[in-house]
Amino acid sequence: MDTQQTTSAFQSLKSGADAYIKRRNLRLLANHRKELRNFTRAEASAYLDIDAKTLDKYVAAADIDPRRHDDSQWSIDISEMYRVRDLLPESLRKEARFQRSEKQQTQVLVIQNQKGGVGKTVSAATIASGLATEFHQEYRVGLIDMDGQATLSMYYAPEADMEGNLSVGDLMMRNFDLDEGETFEQVVSEAFLETTIPNLRILPASQSDRAMEGWFHEQVFNHKLPSPYEILNDVIDTVRDEFDIVIIDTPPSLGYATFNAYYAASSVVFPLSITENDIDATCSYFSYIPQVWALLEHANHEGYDFMKILLTNHRDSSTTTELMNSLYDHFGPYLYSKEFKHSEAVRQASSLLATVFDMSKSEYPKSKATFQTAQQNGYEVASQILRDISNVWREQENN
Ligand SMILES: Nc1ncnc2c1ncn2[C@@H]1O[C@H](COP(=O)(O)OP(=O)(O)O)[C@@H](O)[C@H]1O
Ligand SMILES: [Mg+2]
Repeated sequence: MDTQQTTSAFQSLKSGADAYIKRRNLRLLANHRKELRNFTRAEASAYLDIDAKTLDKYVAAADIDPRRHDDSQWSIDISEMYRVRDLLPESLRKEARFQRSEKQQTQVLVIQNQKGGVGKTVSAATIASGLATEFHQEYRVGLIDMDGQATLSMYYAPEADMEGNLSVGDLMMRNFDLDEGETFEQVVSEAFLETTIPNLRILPASQSDRAMEGWFHEQVFNHKLPSPYEILNDVIDTVRDEFDIVIIDTPPSLGYATFNAYYAASSVVFPLSITENDIDATCSYFSYIPQVWALLEHANHEGYDFMKILLTNHRDSSTTTELMNSLYDHFGPYLYSKEFKHSEAVRQASSLLATVFDMSKSEYPKSKATFQTAQQNGYEVASQILRDISNVWREQENN
């Protein structure tokens, strides 16, 4: 093929792919319109830690009819749950709502590993939805999908691409015009879309965000971007007041998208699934990572508050234990003690583009015990991260 034929071959691959993706998205939307997580009466009273009678009283006070559904079974959804909790007096609330002080900064957590398939996206979704739903402090959580493959976005903003919402790439590459009187802050704030969880919002990726790497190369080549790693940070800066915790999912590569995520972050979590292959790949990555940091430091990053390895998709077996022993030998202080365990419920939820925290127990077709175990494990995983975040806030408050 000459260059012209090559160009038209690539164009035809592109049209085929665009058509395929459009069709796939439409089908996904038709099949997976997500329902809000539902709670039975027993689940609701356990969640709020109040007895059933008190629950009934506040559900009525919130003007909710829990038996309005076709099957007239008692059930309320998660946004109704939040409304009920809002009506509880302080003495009945499990925890007071978190109020970040002036000194306490929004924690920005980047989830990164150059290896694909180690559980970055599933971890980002599970940790974010766990932090948002399982703690009565009602942390305001933001997710940012820096991976142009947009998997995370399919979980929480499946319509975004089709409905013309701005993606993180659009914001970074300034692919939009301000309406009259509109500010960049307003545009960014609106680009963080509501999700099926009331205190979780997502800044989605779109398929066109794949153009981002090329855009960066061009800008840098033409000396149009003096600080190419700071672009995402500038976007986040405009909405810091709206979030307590921001979690960034990254692509399995070390391009500008990942450097921007690293630069914007105040702490790092490295997901690592325990197979010989993934450990080898992650070790090659870690032996290169001082060079990544040197570039970030040169760009004036102030250093991370914490940096941890989260073992993911963990299955108990003698081989894993052996690998774990050697991981502890080499990376002991950096390893989180609770692994994110392999679970059929997590796998199933992820295939429905959901996590165990935004799916109802009744939606899980198989063993409820498996689902509950996965929720418990997700809660432990999120808790250890929250402990690190709370430590940082405590130190900031005392300084
Ligand atoms: N804890 C888990 N239990 C079961 N399956 C998991 C778990 N974590 C990840 N997976 C599976 O592994 C696959 C890869 O995970 P993913 O988060 O997409 O990796 P990455 O983002 O690093 O490429 C997913 O399709 C998911 O189904
Ligand atoms: Mg991913």
